[in-house]
Amino acid sequence: MNPEYTATALAHPNIAFIKYWGNRNDALRLALNDSLSMNLAALHTRTTVRFLLDGSQASDTLVLNGRAIQGDALVRVSGFLNLVRQRAGVDWPAHIISDNNFPTGAGIASSAAAFAALALAASAALGLHLTEKELSILARRGSGSACRSIPAGFVAWHAGVEDGDSYAETIAPPSHWNLVDCVAVIQSAHKPVGSTAGHTLAGTSLLQAARVADAPRRAALCRQAILDRDFEALAVVTELDSNLMHAVMQTSTPPLLYWEPQSVEIMKSVMRWRQEGLPVCYTLDAGPNVHVLTLSDSVDEVEQRLRAVDGVAEVLVSAPGGAARLEPSPKDLEMKGFNQ
Ligand code: PMV
Repeated sequence: MNPEYTATALAHPNIAFIKYWGNRNDALRLALNDSLSMNLAALHTRTTVRFLLDGSQASDTLVLNGRAIQGDALVRVSGFLNLVRQRAGVDWPAHIISDNNFPTGAGIASSAAAFAALALAASAALGLHLTEKELSILARRGSGSACRSIPAGFVAWHAGVEDGDSYAETIAPPSHWNLVDCVAVIQSAHKPVGSTAGHTLAGTSLLQAARVADAPRRAALCRQAILDRDFEALAVVTELDSNLMHAVMQTSTPPLLYWEPQSVEIMKSVMRWRQEGLPVCYTLDAGPNVHVLTLSDSVDEVEQRLRAVDGVAEVLVSAPGGAARLEPSPKDLEMKGFNQ
């Protein structure tokens, strides 16, 4: 049991090679297609959850990267915690402290790591012993892609058709392949439409039905490329899948254009570099940053080339990452913000 009703968990964000875009059920975040991803070892969210039984606060509180958070973000987190509270049969408010080790506001999708860490910390704090599958299903309710940040390494999300069969599992451990993600962080003043809103627009694009219909074929190619450590095969299907998702985004109503001129410049450079023999390919999520995949031998070269592109603020380099995991909770919780 957990007499303090406190737990701390760490989870990595993930980058999808085969993307999730559009739900069959928005409330349950049931994806329309299977997706495949890799966890990012160098980046993580660490979250401590304490449930308070002493009446010291009436509702949930959240401190994110040292700042007290209110509004929509807190409502979303509270709604998610309600699922965990219901499961444990309690109604206690919680105090949550969450920190990312990667630059905030840089447009790195953090909701996957955030809800994976929150699912694990909150369920452990309430003494629920969930299996990896159950945790993945729970994390999915916070953010679809969060279900892929629960298992280790290279991960497949089986879209399924209902709550109980839509979850992610490892297809290969982190050590399977020396693939590296170099995230070129683009300076951008533009505030993009978030993915929760974006998923609801996917069906307004004429291209979404075609993207979804062909997804099983792409997922099979991608899975085989990962299992065979076949970089060229991975490159071709990953770029195709990213382009298809962005084609859907760009042709939805209203249209979503996440690319900045520097994003396009990098995509074109990556295509050229690959033709010249460098193992590189690109993929982009719901933002302008370009994830450039390569192999460990070529990381220095790729990083150097990306840094030379005008408008690239930073390059974050990450090998395949492990599963979400529990960590010892800090002893100095007051110091860390529990008394705010
Ligand atoms: O989990 P969400 O709702 O943030 O959606 C993630 C969507 C993409 O990052 C664009 C694609 C993906 O599969 O990660």
